[in-house]
Amino acid sequence: MKSVLITGAVRNSGLGIAKKFLKEGWQTVITSRNESDAKAVAAELEKEFGVPCFGFGYSPLEAITDTEKLFDKIEDAGIELDSVICNAANLGRWMNPLTVDPTEWQNVLTTNVVGYFMPARAAVNQMIRTGKAKGATIVFVGSINYKDALPERSGYVASKGAIASMTKALALDFAPYGVRVNCLAPGAIWTTRYDDEYDAAEIESRKKKIPLGEFSTKETMGNNAYFLATDASHPMTGSVMIVDGGSDAIMSGCF
Ligand SMILES: NC(=O)c1ccc[n+]([C@@H]2O[C@H](COP(=O)([O-])OP(=O)(O)OC[C@H]3O[C@@H](n4cnc5c(N)ncnc54)[C@H](OP(=O)(O)O)[C@@H]3O)[C@@H](O)[C@H]2O)c1
Repeated sequence: MKSVLITGAVRNSGLGIAKKFLKEGWQTVITSRNESDAKAVAAELEKEFGVPCFGFGYSPLEAITDTEKLFDKIEDAGIELDSVICNAANLGRWMNPLTVDPTEWQNVLTTNVVGYFMPARAAVNQMIRTGKAKGATIVFVGSINYKDALPERSGYVASKGAIASMTKALALDFAPYGVRVNCLAPGAIWTTRYDDEYDAAEIESRKKKIPLGEFSTKETMGNNAYFLATDASHPMTGSVMIVDGGSDAIMSGCF
C-alpha cells in the first residue's frame, strides 16, 4: 500500500486531495494546525473509505520545529511515505504594503515557503532511508499568482513565485534519487470562503471571466494532484502545471 502526506487537509482543496488518494487505496496522513481536527477528520475518512488515515498536528508557521514533531509521529506509526502534497497556505489577503504589520507579511512567506520546504526535505530524507525514493513524488500546491498578481497580496504572490522556483531547484536536487517535484498552479478554486463572501450575482460574474466558465473544485484539485503524484505524470519534474479553466490564456483587455 502506498502512503501520502497532505498538509492542511481537513477542508477545501486539501480534503478533496485526501479523498482522491483514499479512493485510490493510499494510506493517507492529513494535517491541520489543530491536531484534534486532523484526528477527527482522519477518523471519518478512514470509516468512509476503509483505508488507514492518520491525522496529525502541523503548523507551517512553525515548520522548523513542527516538521520534526510531525515526522516523529509518522515514524512511530510505521508510515513510509511515497508522496507529499504541500497544500496548507496563508492566503495573505488585504495586506496593504504601506501599512501591513511586517511580521504578518513575513508570516505569509514563512508559512508558504518554509512550510513547504521542511516537510518536503524530511520526506525525501525518509524516502532515501527506506529505499522508497525512486519513483516518489513531491507536489507543491502553488497558484496562478506565481506569475499573475492580485492587489494587496504581495506576500502571497511572492510566496507562490518562490514555490514555483523552489519546485525547479528541488527537482534538480532530488532527481539523482529518482524523486520528482512538480507544482500544481490553480486559478480560482471553489471553497467554503466563496460561499461565505460572495452572493450569487458575484459568483456568476466571476465564472464568466473564466473561459471554461467554471472554478476548480476540491474534486478537480484531487484529480490533478493525484496525476502529479503518480507515474501517470512520469517523467515530468520541475514543472509548474497551470489548471485554471483558461484564465491565464486570456490576453489582457480582450475578454
Ligand atoms: N482558493 C483558491 O481560489 C486558490 C487559488 C489558487 C491556489 N490556491 C491554493 O490552494 C491551496 C489550498 O487552498 P484552499 O483555498 O483550498 O484552502 P484553505 O482552506 O484556504 O487553505 C488550506 C489550509 O491551510 C491552512 N491555513 C489557512 N490559513 C493558514 C495560515 N494563516 N497559516 C497556516 N495555515 C493556514 C488551513 O488548515 P488548518 O486551519 O486546518 O491548519 C486550511 O484549511 C493553498 O496552497 C492555496 O494557496 C487556492
